[in-house]
Amino acid sequence: MKVLTGIDEFRGARSSLGGSLGFVPTMGYLHEGHLSLIRKARGDCSHVVVSIFVNPTQFGLNEDLSKYPRDLKRDLDLIQPLGADIVWTPTPEIMYPGGFQTWVEVERLTQGLEGTMRPGHFKGVATVVAKLFNVVQPHKAYFGQKDAQQAAVIRQMARDLNFPLEVVVCPTVREADGLAMSSRNKYLDAEERKAAVVLFRALSAAKSAFDAGERNAEKLRQIVRNILAAEPHAKTQYVSCADYDTLEELELIKGNTLLSMAVMLGKTRLIDNFVIGP
Ligand code: PAF
Repeated sequence: MKVLTGIDEFRGARSSLGGSLGFVPTMGYLHEGHLSLIRKARGDCSHVVVSIFVNPTQFGLNEDLSKYPRDLKRDLDLIQPLGADIVWTPTPEIMYPGGFQTWVEVERLTQGLEGTMRPGHFKGVATVVAKLFNVVQPHKAYFGQKDAQQAAVIRQMARDLNFPLEVVVCPTVREADGLAMSSRNKYLDAEERKAAVVLFRALSAAKSAFDAGERNAEKLRQIVRNILAAEPHAKTQYVSCADYDTLEELELIKGNTLLSMAVMLGKTRLIDNFVIGP
């Protein structure tokens, strides 16, 4: 497994990888969710590239970039046994050299949900992922369903900018009690960690109602809101029941639907979602 930093050295190594290339972009501090993406890429493609880059442009002014967890040695130890060919670890100076002034913005899909709560976030995500795609030149790129809006934005960006690749969205990996795996879970104290299962409980309750025949989107949102409101540690930011492709809020559920939420547990912001549909 090669660990490379510069773009020229990466491109040199990339050019010797024949066959199909699977790419897993990450911000490091890997957990089982990331590892499941790498395993899937390994199973699907002849070669696998993982990038580790904490992208400064997707952090808001009130989000602490310097506190984002980092542990490169641990990440490399986790990736090594999975058989990735290259781990690319560019620096901020490499990705955003002085004079950088070109951005990628996906307009409509970024307007609600995370886009409302985190202004500018998806501009940073779409820009860095377009740059990563340009350098890595993958055939398939892997993202987690937990960041459902991010996956939709990247799918749209890849289509609109004619990247010749498939965006593969893989299921959310959960802890035994249902909490979606996330690098941010490490910020939760013991009480908050216990309370955090409320996100999964709320989604599960809404899904049970859906399975029992409920098709009124507002009723499903209300089920989620009520369960979240009963957990004293949880502060709801939004609850959404939206069309899976357009992310527009629904009145009635007819097709694939994204039931999603953002919740503060103390100072930690967690998101989660279920995809439901007939
Ligand atoms: O999901 C992430 O870890 C990041 O948003 C991504 C896609 C690697 C872009 O920085």
